[in-house]
Amino acid sequence: MRRIALFIDEPDWHAQRLAAAIAERGGEAVACSLRDCAFRLGDGGAGIDIPGFDGALPDAALVRSIAAGSFEQVTLRLGLLHALAASGVPVINDARAIERCVDKSMTSFLLHRAGLPTPATLVSESEAAARRWRASRAEAQVAKPLFGSRGRGLARLAPGDALPPRDVNGGVRYLQRFVGRDSDWLDFRVMVIGGEPVAAMIRRGRSWITNVGRGGRCEPVQMSERLGSLGRAAVGAVGADYAGVDLIEDVDGALLVLEVNSMPAWKGLQSVAACDIAGHLAAHVLDRLR
Ligand SMILES: Nc1ncnc2c1ncn2[C@@H]1O[C@H](COP(=O)(O)OP(=O)(O)O)[C@@H](O)[C@H]1O
Ligand SMILES: [Mg+2]
Repeated sequence: MRRIALFIDEPDWHAQRLAAAIAERGGEAVACSLRDCAFRLGDGGAGIDIPGFDGALPDAALVRSIAAGSFEQVTLRLGLLHALAASGVPVINDARAIERCVDKSMTSFLLHRAGLPTPATLVSESEAAARRWRASRAEAQVAKPLFGSRGRGLARLAPGDALPPRDVNGGVRYLQRFVGRDSDWLDFRVMVIGGEPVAAMIRRGRSWITNVGRGGRCEPVQMSERLGSLGRAAVGAVGADYAGVDLIEDVDGALLVLEVNSMPAWKGLQSVAACDIAGHLAAHVLDRLR
């Protein structure tokens, strides 16, 4: 029996679906929080303590969430994931991919480096550099928290608008060209698992921020060649096993990548998708063991 550590902080619908999908494929998901894991060295074990594994290593690990915490706590939790990978355990997504996606500036850089379309962006600690960049571009822009998620903490800035207070985003300015429109807001979410774009949807926003948690409505959309190939390329650029990619259409219809989520929720997407997303993910995790 393959035993998969399912890292999750609050057992939820996703964990239930994953546990069932893993069981259907002959494995066992053991849910626990990374908060409850530890390095325990010198006792003859693998050195990584995971509740439910009695000092042994799991056959694979699936990361559904990492709780917010102090710099030290988050470093330890990511360190445990790095250590599992270094011990030969398939970790999905691994710490490197999670680090690259949680930090929006690194995601943006990797998309840019891969030659993928993404809006012009400046990330800097310097107020002077931020002011210069803004002055050089006569356009609406978006200020985002470096570690943002669920549409929290975003500000839309017209040319000449004051920036949000400097300390709001931890002293880092992430500024990006505002793409899109003044009404009928929508963007796309594409889920890619094991290099395969498995599901897509339109998110129709009540405002320009289309996240489901901000009132965005999910609508089914056919997986087109351009959504699938750009989604797949974006996930490849950050080196993730699976991810949810946000894409938006420019006024002239060109598709741009906004961000890549390495720990995406998919309840909204599942409600309009034909395929079983948890099933795809479980199959991918078990495939990695072969
Ligand atoms: N550059 C942009 N232009 C237009 N809309 C944007 C831009 N960046 C973000 N948005 C809107 O805000 C939402 C949240 O931004 P995103 O970068 O995905 O951060 P989060 O991690 O909070 O989801 C996007 O889904 C989109 O609706
Ligand atoms: Mg997003």
